[in-house]
Amino acid sequence: MDLFGIILEKSSHIISKEQIAQMLNTTPEALAKFEKVYNIVSDEENRASGNFFKLNSRDVAKHMKISSDDIAALESRIVNELLASSGLISCKDEPLVTKEEILNLPEEFRPQLTGNLIKKDITQDSYPKLLFDYAKWRETEDIHWYHMFRQGLDILDLDPVTYEIIGMNPNSMGYWFPALKNAADLQDFFKIPETKIVKVPLPILQLTKLDYFSLTPTTLNIVDAWARKAFELDENKTYFIKTGTYSSKFDFRNAKVTSSKEVQEIGQYLLFIHAQAIAMAHYDLSGRNQPCIYGVSTTNEWVVREYIEDKENLPCIYHGMPLHTEYRAFIDFDTNELLGIVPYWDAESMKKRFSQEDDADTADMKHDYIIYCKEEERLQKTFDENIGKISDHLKSLIPDIDLKGQWSLDIMQNGEDFWLIDMALAANSALVNKLPIKLEAPAENWLPDFQNTYINRKSIT
Ligand SMILES: Nc1ncnc2c1ncn2[C@@H]1O[C@H](COP(=O)(O)OP(=O)(O)O)[C@@H](O)[C@H]1O
Ligand SMILES: [Mg+2]
Repeated sequence: MDLFGIILEKSSHIISKEQIAQMLNTTPEALAKFEKVYNIVSDEENRASGNFFKLNSRDVAKHMKISSDDIAALESRIVNELLASSGLISCKDEPLVTKEEILNLPEEFRPQLTGNLIKKDITQDSYPKLLFDYAKWRETEDIHWYHMFRQGLDILDLDPVTYEIIGMNPNSMGYWFPALKNAADLQDFFKIPETKIVKVPLPILQLTKLDYFSLTPTTLNIVDAWARKAFELDENKTYFIKTGTYSSKFDFRNAKVTSSKEVQEIGQYLLFIHAQAIAMAHYDLSGRNQPCIYGVSTTNEWVVREYIEDKENLPCIYHGMPLHTEYRAFIDFDTNELLGIVPYWDAESMKKRFSQEDDADTADMKHDYIIYCKEEERLQKTFDENIGKISDHLKSLIPDIDLKGQWSLDIMQNGEDFWLIDMALAANSALVNKLPIKLEAPAENWLPDFQNTYINRKSIT
């Protein structure tokens, strides 16, 4: 009997710490240490002391005495804790911010994170439930368990193990980008925008699981200040931002960051788009019976890239996205074959999107529909003119890209420049149906190997 069979035979509803440790190639003792890295400020504590402040006159007075300097000093200590946790600065001697310090503040001024404190909806860890669903899927091959696992990964509160499982997604940029960049550095036809990928510390990522509109200004200031340092942002630059897997391009105002004020606020924009993507994984409550979509932000990374300025003065769709000619190539890295290239802004899907959905009557959709129709011929013509050249250069690039399996690779044309923009597993990519590809289901592994990956980490040894 395999591992999953053993696990599920013994307990049909719960999974033990021993069984989990076995799945993650570690010991229950190491696992116990690992899961204790973060303490929780629970909602009950928040509510209790929040109400207290509302009802008690002495505490209202305390509230009045809090100066913006005090808050700023606390923010700065928390930012340093977060930067130190990712090894971006060395640890200072300053005492860690405590739960008591936080609860002593009126609720509306409270930071909802520190370097090692997080706020959660439910105090229990999520990972035993997730690993139970995962093991059930592996054992029964019933896709229902897989859906439960994947949806849970996106919407449940974080703990250190869940954070590492999320980090296993091969579609996230930190997985494929180094392989693409190494290959691109060996040639000079394709370009790659300057890119900084950062692992988001767990306490910041946990904020994406809370109601975005419940986040306090103190919390948002901390995330902004952390991002300015972690990404070494330059206020005079224009940036393109996304999570490891999602850019919110459909409202391009979220993806393009221009003024110095906006650059200062990149942290909260990233938080917003991440939370927006996670919201898609919740069951649809609109009554329109839309499917729950998981995976759009199964990532623990955020990305800030050089913004590629449009050279062609193109009209825009999606509130400001220049309608470049773009190409989606499908590649099999096991055989080093280029499987085909299709237009990224596919005419049929784009026109359908703008004219046949519930929002077709809105000014935005009408605008984008008109622009798209006006540009359709140009997009096809440019595509036809360049596809030969792109194919040739891709064929020589492919053997240098160290990846396995079938992938999509998106290329954006800007004048005569060809930018390598995005990748995803072919099985998870739209437009794969436009080609006669024999699509292979990728071998999925969502179990971090704690023995081999984390053995040297301070938290576990
Ligand atoms: N660095 C950049 N500068 C300018 N435009 C970009 C940049 N990166 C992407 N884009 C544009 O934004 C679109 C979406 O980007 P992408 O990284 O593929 O995000 P998503 O994962 O949401 O599809 C691209 O198709 C391209 O038109
Ligand atoms: Mg993309």
